[in-house]
Amino acid sequence: MAYRIFGINFGTIFDSLPWLAYFARNVPGLGEDVKRMREMGIGKAALRNKQGSKTKDLFYYLSNDDLPEEKKANPAIVIAEGILATVAGSDTTSNALTVALYFLLKNQDAYRRLQAEVDKFYPQGEDPLDSKHYKDMEFLEAVINETLRMYPAVMSGSQRSVMRGQGGKLIGQYYIPEDTQVRIPTYTLHRDPRNFSPYPDTFWPDRWLIAEGRQESKEEIVHQVNAFIPFSFGPANCVGKNLAWTQLRMVLVALLHKFEIKPVKGWDADEWERLITEQYITMRTSLPVILERR
Ligand code: HEM
Repeated sequence: MAYRIFGINFGTIFDSLPWLAYFARNVPGLGEDVKRMREMGIGKAALRNKQGSKTKDLFYYLSNDDLPEEKKANPAIVIAEGILATVAGSDTTSNALTVALYFLLKNQDAYRRLQAEVDKFYPQGEDPLDSKHYKDMEFLEAVINETLRMYPAVMSGSQRSVMRGQGGKLIGQYYIPEDTQVRIPTYTLHRDPRNFSPYPDTFWPDRWLIAEGRQESKEEIVHQVNAFIPFSFGPANCVGKNLAWTQLRMVLVALLHKFEIKPVKGWDADEWERLITEQYITMRTSLPVILERR
């Protein structure tokens, strides 16, 4: 698949060559999408500032609306944080949802099991957007975990570096000299049979239920949850993790509650998966489905 430079995937380049961004910004036509997004962010932030906070949402805290007037946040920082949150919180979750649906359509057993769980906790007439049962839905949790294991939204992981002037650092058996960037590729870590086996390259939600003692298994499994880091790890890990989990559960439950989802005729599942690429975030093509009201 051709690598298309359009916006988010600039990150792949600038992540490793940050100085290039200063030049790229002045090349006409390059990064138009990013500029448009920035303008949109500025417009929305200005509008929101004018309207003030009606609810205690993310913007309320980013703007320091909970603090006295003199501690109001710098608008430029609020805009930058707002754009970061918009990107970090939309492409990632939509990706995970699309890939989860892909795996469910490809694995009809898993689809039926999830459907049965949705119907048990949210029979017709119940509100699937009421989150009261989400935590008890074990198979749903296993499906989401397995989706994030197979295709974490940031497959290469985000980088870290030993700051200049700090001296080198020893991480396990590896010496990292100062001013050096390192990253742990999440995709590779998640598919390493030393961390998850059997079938490390196969969507198998059962592994999560077996590991938690909720399901019997004749097979020995390796299940290193410490090596499961779709939301990254450490002090700069994803701030939206809990929100993301709620969104993923809510949308999947609501979709299966309201619709029977089928792939369009002639859909080539393997080809669809082959077209998933790593472009800073995980990119995929649209998933051609038919929704039939249940
Ligand atoms: C399935 C959904 C999501 C996944 C897999 C995901 C994953 C990640 C990852 C891997 C990082 C990098 C952290 C690091 O460098 O260590 C990150 C950062 C971040 N995420 Fe998420 N994310 C998701 C949803 C969300 C949502 C819904 C929000 C809501 C606003 C969000 C907000 C952020 C922000 C603001 C950062 C930057 C944190 C920082 O630099 O301190 N994410 N996310």
